[in-house]
Amino acid sequence: MPESGIISVHGVTKEFNSATDRSVTALTDIDLTIAEGEFVSLLGPSGCGKSTLLRILADLTPPTAGTVQVNGKTPAAARRDRDYGMVFQQAGLFEWRSVRRNVELPLQVAGVAKEERRNKASAMLDLVRLEDFASHFPWQLSGGMQQRVAIARALSADPKILFMDEPLGALDEMNREHLQAELLRIWSDTRTTVVFVTHSISEAVFLSSRIVVMSARPGRIAANIDVDLPYPRTAATRTTPEFFEKVTQVRTVLHGMLAAGETS
Ligand SMILES: Nc1ncnc2c1ncn2[C@@H]1O[C@H](COP(=O)(O)OP(=O)(O)OP(=O)(O)O)[C@@H](O)[C@H]1O
Ligand SMILES: [Mg+2]
Repeated sequence: MPESGIISVHGVTKEFNSATDRSVTALTDIDLTIAEGEFVSLLGPSGCGKSTLLRILADLTPPTAGTVQVNGKTPAAARRDRDYGMVFQQAGLFEWRSVRRNVELPLQVAGVAKEERRNKASAMLDLVRLEDFASHFPWQLSGGMQQRVAIARALSADPKILFMDEPLGALDEMNREHLQAELLRIWSDTRTTVVFVTHSISEAVFLSSRIVVMSARPGRIAANIDVDLPYPRTAATRTTPEFFEKVTQVRTVLHGMLAAGETS
């Protein structure tokens, strides 16, 4: 891997509808390097460009200017090589396919033989602790279970990178905290690099090794905050003074940024 990290973004700007009177500059001059194995959260107010940045990394939309490398390649090449998996706020499962067949889908698309697909799907369902639900259909699962299936599906092709856009946003707090812990366990088992979008401060602090704080209009990177709380992090981590201190530090940066924005 080049020294520049598994993900590198240089001078990225994104303008929507540039030739019209509805033009929006979603991102300005974004520089970001992510090292292999990091768990990075993109945190910031609604509309600051978190999803846009993630979508640029995942080759779902092109930048207007700047360069992006994912696993040492263009996002399009990384997409072709299945270097990353993606999880969205909604699980987006296929209702007519069983849980197992949903998880197998990326492998099927990649032309992986049936038996290998089966084995891999079983291992992934094991990882998200849903092995007993393999033959169920998505509508027979809770929202949190569906989201775990979406994570299993994203991981089935052994991607080096996982892009997640508010994957736990639709869940109640208990389920959300439970899945946060699960996600950290999966991250430490698989050593996948994770880029995670959220607007929850406590979620970002609990999960991340680093938080990239973004400011709104036009979206910029306002701060990089290392979260030096030791892993493994557990429910007990949330009750420690160090956790509260980190949450307070991040909140102060976010609020300071919002206050500065109001006066400009
Ligand atoms: N397809 C699009 N066409 C035009 N403008 C867009 C498009 N997608 C996003 N934008 C604009 O880009 C800006 C950033 O949007 P983005 O969805 O990246 O924000 P976000 O940080 O993910 O917000 P949220 O937390 O609400 O999901 C917004 O002003 C939005 O209106
Ligand atoms: Mg978004």
